[in-house]
Formats: sequence, structure tokens, C-alpha cells
Amino acid sequence: MSQAHVGGFEGLVAPDPGSIPLSRGDRDMNPPGIGFLALLREDLRIHGGTIFEQGFWAVAVHRFGNWRMGRPKLLRAPLTILYRMMFLFVECAAGVSLPYNVKLGRRVRIWHHGGIILHARSIGDDTQIRQNTTMGIARVDRHLEIPTIGARVDIGCGACILGGVTVGDDCKIGANAVVLGDVPAGSTAVGVPARVVRRSGSGEEPGS
Ligand SMILES: CC(C)(COP(=O)(O)OP(=O)(O)OC[C@H]1O[C@@H](n2cnc3c(N)ncnc32)[C@H](O)[C@@H]1OP(=O)(O)O)[C@@H](O)C(=O)NCCC(=O)NCCS
Repeated sequence: MSQAHVGGFEGLVAPDPGSIPLSRGDRDMNPPGIGFLALLREDLRIHGGTIFEQGFWAVAVHRFGNWRMGRPKLLRAPLTILYRMMFLFVECAAGVSLPYNVKLGRRVRIWHHGGIILHARSIGDDTQIRQNTTMGIARVDRHLEIPTIGARVDIGCGACILGGVTVGDDCKIGANAVVLGDVPAGSTAVGVPARVVRRSGSGEEPGS
């Protein structure tokens, strides 16, 4: 890991150039230990128990996109057409883009809708995502560098998490933050570029 600080701010460290290939999406990456229908029921419950939550649509289509990869090839072809149509529908109607090859944890909730682009390597269990959140590359010539989001991360509206950064477990990302470096587990990062303002448990300010 490079020790260069991003924007000179404490706690955010520039990631190494991404060299790990992205998931090819050639297998079912739904969380293990739970069946497809039980997973959908859990997602529905997390989204307030209503099918009229656009976040639920996005997550359900994502689960379906993965589930189909575990079917025999002959059956998969029509399911793939269906998946692509549903993906496009969610993108256009709800403004949520969540490709199936993002490794998505359990009980991830997408609040509201619109302007939500979730091109990450993985998003951990119990993470909360809000409207106008963007996860993706920082530069067009570094297409392998996309974020990794831990478990129980609470992401404020309008946050941009860019490049091959890692946001650790139990972090909070402030509304409209632009995250360009790794955020240590348990931290709160705010601002443009984002800086760590709090680390949970210690009650201490970073650097003190
Ligand atoms: C970051 C957040 C979680 C607050 O965390 P917190 O641990 O309670 O932190 P505090 O409110 O004590 O703020 C700590 C510092 O960060 C600043 N800060 C908090 N949120 C900020 C933000 N989004 N952007 C810039 N600075 C912010 C505060 O002004 C404070 O600065 P100071 O120490 O110089 O006074 C919260 O402010 C936030 O942004 N939540 C997003 C919620 C959301 O998206 N709601 C939309 C619902 S539809």
C-alpha cells in the first residue's frame, strides 16, 4: 500500500494501481448459505417490506442476474435476455445502476433512488446507500480501479467513492463526500476530498 496521502489529509491513503482483474461475472456470486428466494425475502424486508421501493428492484435484479449464472447454459440464454431488460428498466425508471458482477453482501439497503451508480468490486453486508451515490473509476485509463466497500458502511447522499479505494467496515461517509483514498474501519469521512473526522470507539479526533 502506498503511503502517499491523498490531498494531504490524514487517514486517507492513495491506493496502489489496481492490478487485480475484475470479476468476469461467470458464476453465481450471491451470498452463500441462503437460497435465492430466501435472499429476496430478506432484501424485501430490509426495504420496508414493499415491492414499491426502487432500491429493492435494483437489488432483486442483481440477485436474479447472479442466480441465472448457476443455471444450465441452455436455460441461461433466455434468462440473460430477461436480466438485461430488467437491468435497463431499473436504470431508466429508477436511476440505479448495480451490475450483477459487483459482489453484493446481504441486507444491503438502497434508500430512495436516482443517480445511483454502484460500480464496485464488492459491497459488504448491512451497508446503507443513498440517492446520488457514485462508486466507480477515478480515471478513464484506470478501469480496473474501482472501490471495495466493507460491511455496515453508512453512505450519505451524493457521496462519490472513486478509484481502487477500500472503505473499511463500520465507516460513515458524509453526504457529498468525495472519497479518493482508503478509509480505515470505523471512521467517519467527510468533505471534498474526504478526510477522516472521527474514529469510532476511541472518541478521538484523527491525529490526536
Ligand atoms: C457524516 C455524518 C454521518 C455525521 O457524522 P458524525 O459522526 O455525527 O459527525 P458530526 O456531525 O459530529 O460532524 C463532524 C464534523 O464533520 C462535519 N461534517 C459532518 N457532515 C459533513 C458533510 N456531509 N460534509 C462536510 N462536513 C461534514 C461537521 O461539520 C463537523 O465538523 P467540525 O468538527 O469542524 O465541526 C452526517 O453529517 C452525514 O453526512 N450523514 C449523511 C446522512 C444523509 O445522507 N442523509 C440523507 C437522508 S435522505
